Amino acid sequence: MTTATQVPTVRLNSGATMPTIGLGTYEIPDADAAQVIRWATRIGYRLIDTAASYGNERGVGEGVRSAGVPREELFVVSKVRGRDQGYDATLRALEASLRRMGLDRLDLYLIHWPLPRHDRFVETWRAMARLAAEGLVTSIGVSNFTPDQLNRLEEETGIVPAVNQVQINPLLTQTLWRRYAAVKGIVLQSWGPLGHGGALLTEPVVKGVAERHGRTPGQAVLRWHLDSALVPIPKTVRPQRLAENLGVFDFRLTHDDHKALASLAGTQIAVNPDTYEEF
Ligand SMILES: NC(=O)c1ccc[n+]([C@@H]2O[C@H](COP(=O)([O-])OP(=O)(O)OC[C@H]3O[C@@H](n4cnc5c(N)ncnc54)[C@H](OP(=O)(O)O)[C@@H]3O)[C@@H](O)[C@H]2O)c1
Repeated sequence: MTTATQVPTVRLNSGATMPTIGLGTYEIPDADAAQVIRWATRIGYRLIDTAASYGNERGVGEGVRSAGVPREELFVVSKVRGRDQGYDATLRALEASLRRMGLDRLDLYLIHWPLPRHDRFVETWRAMARLAAEGLVTSIGVSNFTPDQLNRLEEETGIVPAVNQVQINPLLTQTLWRRYAAVKGIVLQSWGPLGHGGALLTEPVVKGVAERHGRTPGQAVLRWHLDSALVPIPKTVRPQRLAENLGVFDFRLTHDDHKALASLAGTQIAVNPDTYEEF
């Protein structure tokens, strides 16, 4: 029997601790999610990321409840979608997410996108604060928020998000957002940490770093996130890749590796949170 990986944790501004790597579930069908989560938790995953808009909260919740791991050892994340922004709608959205998942609490609830044209993210944030005060969510955060949008949240409510979940990988390093997060004590989760499994993993620089450590390109990239104090949430439905993506706690990249990977920065264009909309 293999022993499960003990994933290190990071402390959030809520006082809670969060695992430093998680499982993404975007595009995992509802019908498959429970099985993938059981595989993942068996080998040591403790953070599971979903969203109302992924259409798989039911399966994710079933996976969490049937994982055979005490609920308090798991860190479950979901997100309020665009159409549910607004004070009352957000309160109802969390209730609906919990009902679908069959859970009585989330560890982290995020505003999925800021949608600034609709200008409801501040009232949404006030509702999130209420959900935290009521204990229905342990920590609250945002996703895809720019420093300007984060400043506005803090100025109008006095509450700094625990987490900002942002598109980050070695091609798209989001330097400004990282500096801002470091100053404010916000933990950054990286979405699309493997560049969606595309060209990033065949980059000669990435392959070179991986080979120097006898690792796969995916592992080299995930180690880049961990060394950079980012919390990656790679998605896979394959047991072998679940294990591969978790097998990153027994090596570190060198200064030269980081220098080599830095040459890739700026070669991918980010989705723009000032204009991007999804509901
Ligand atoms: N907040 C947001 O706006 C937002 C947006 C997008 C995503 N997310 C979250 O972030 C998570 C991760 O992002 P993502 O799913 O877009 O992209 P990702 O994790 O960078 O990449 C996932 C893709 O890479 C493949 N893959 C996984 N491990 C691999 C490995 N070791 N080697 C080669 N290929 C590998 C997967 O295929 P297989 O499944 O076939 O292995 C899948 O096609 C999502 O699942 C979701 O939870 C959040």
